[in-house]
Amino acid sequence: MGEPMKVRLAPSLLSADFSRLADEVADVQSAGADLLHLDIMDGHFVPNLTFGPPIVRSLSPHCSIPMDAHLMVTDPDVFVDDLAAAKVARIAVHIEACNHLQRTLGRIRDAGVEAGIAINPATSLGQLEDALPWVDFVLVMSVNPGFGGQDFLPESLGKIRRLRQMTEMHELDIAVDGGVSRENAAALVAAGATTLIAGSAIFGAADRARALADLRNAAHSGVVQ
Ligand code: DX5
Ligand code: ZN
Repeated sequence: MGEPMKVRLAPSLLSADFSRLADEVADVQSAGADLLHLDIMDGHFVPNLTFGPPIVRSLSPHCSIPMDAHLMVTDPDVFVDDLAAAKVARIAVHIEACNHLQRTLGRIRDAGVEAGIAINPATSLGQLEDALPWVDFVLVMSVNPGFGGQDFLPESLGKIRRLRQMTEMHELDIAVDGGVSRENAAALVAAGATTLIAGSAIFGAADRARALADLRNAAHSGVVQ
């Protein structure tokens, strides 16, 4: 193996104050966030509703870091073009929602956007193995999707480790989403995660710069573990 991959931190807007989104984005951006994670929920795939392409389009000019869209919707294909037009850099679709996964991933890449597969905690890695040639990243859910502030499922660590082994020959970005905190960041990075998505641990903190710095320090100690 060569140099360890850089770990990126992606605050999840789900835990931000929705009445002042542009200010919230500016806050984590100036605090050193690497990506902005956008949880798009439709009330069908998950029992919660958030926001869709019109709000992403409005935020886009206020966001200078790459936007990372996480589609928790039953029909992700419908949103791909609008999100690409809103200039998101990455789109993850849930494997559980896609009848024709390869086609959906191709549609995302054709729109000039990095394509990712998201998997629920109970979904087996075997289901995505054959799709790896068509993805730029995998998003491993470490809680059941739908809400921020849930407890991290510790089984996710072994899953990330197995996924990293499965992809050892490729520099695949493995993102982890749900219950990420300074307590588990080092173990997640040591297991092979390269993007840490965190909602309540960052937006839930009064001092976002401190929260990001703490998370980054914890993540770095995982690189050398
Ligand atoms: C949950 C979302 C997550 C959520 C994480 O369905 O996909 O991105 O914001 O929130 P925390 O970090 O609070 O678990
Ligand atoms: Zn998410």
